[in-house]
Amino acid sequence: MTDTITFDAFTAAHLHGALRLSQDAGWPHRREDWQLLSRLSRGVVALAAGKVVGTALATTFGDVAMANMIIVDVGLRGRGLGRQVMTQAMAGVTVPEWRLTATEDGLPLYEKLGFVATGRVLQHQGVPVAQTLPGGVDWADAVDLEGIAALDRQATGAERGALIVRLMIEGKLAVVRKGGNLVGYACLRRFGRGDLVGPVIAESAETAQRLIGFLISQSQSSFLRVDTTEAAGIAPWLTAQGLAPVGGGVAMQRGGSIPPAAPVRCFALAAQALG
Ligand SMILES: CC(C)(COP(=O)(O)OP(=O)(O)OC[C@H]1O[C@@H](n2cnc3c(N)ncnc32)[C@H](O)[C@@H]1OP(=O)(O)O)[C@@H](O)C(=O)NCCC(=O)NCCS
Repeated sequence: MTDTITFDAFTAAHLHGALRLSQDAGWPHRREDWQLLSRLSRGVVALAAGKVVGTALATTFGDVAMANMIIVDVGLRGRGLGRQVMTQAMAGVTVPEWRLTATEDGLPLYEKLGFVATGRVLQHQGVPVAQTLPGGVDWADAVDLEGIAALDRQATGAERGALIVRLMIEGKLAVVRKGGNLVGYACLRRFGRGDLVGPVIAESAETAQRLIGFLISQSQSSFLRVDTTEAAGIAPWLTAQGLAPVGGGVAMQRGGSIPPAAPVRCFALAAQALG
């Protein structure tokens, strides 16, 4: 069967097939979620008789790139296709550092490709408890974009300006200021089964929780998701807000170095695919 497989660059024409693959894998992505990712990425599809049977995307943020949306049709797994789509998607991108969030299925492949675990990603979701509107949080506007991108860079070491512009178009960004300076930002947007809060970048857990509480109170959806990390330390608080832990993944890295502790930290991911 694998000898009938061809590879092509990922384009909008593959969105429908890619969506079917991710749904078959039990992932909640909507067509719009694939669209956001593919707009920011270059990708590869594996095709069997014109049908999408494998996908992999590479999203570059300056010196850091994310490998993501690596999926192989369930009937064709274990034959080297995952390795092929992933290495082809990564081949066109030259960066010193790669990152990804691994599922259990993906771990063996990523370890073979030289990725090492750096921490745990924790997925929390559910119907949040009602929030009292926290003070000191404002909606961001376009003039804040540069400051938000700078804050994000401090916390992630990645140049995510283009992502942040997209998030502002597709969602809503909230900020916390101190003495005229931004000390935190967070995004609320539609994703999967409901709304998602992330990224959340802040100077402290208290500021992060204030931002998340504010966005929960503004969400029009009854279902909300936050992807945090074990290192961020806010998982128990998220659980207390009605967002139960439902699994997660392993954060992995290839190349680069462990960044020195920054005054601002990442408390929630933009998405497991985006870090
Ligand atoms: C992860 C996934 C893409 C792997 O695709 P695949 O086509 O089965 O992977 P491959 O056949 O290319 O296997 C890659 C390597 O991992 C190894 N491997 C795969 N599963 C393994 C396992 N359970 N234990 C040990 N090694 C394993 C293979 O032997 C292979 O090594 P080799 O290239 O040196 O022979 C596929 O399982 C999948 O789509 N899973 C659901 C979606 C998902 O979780 N994606 C990962 C997102 S992070």
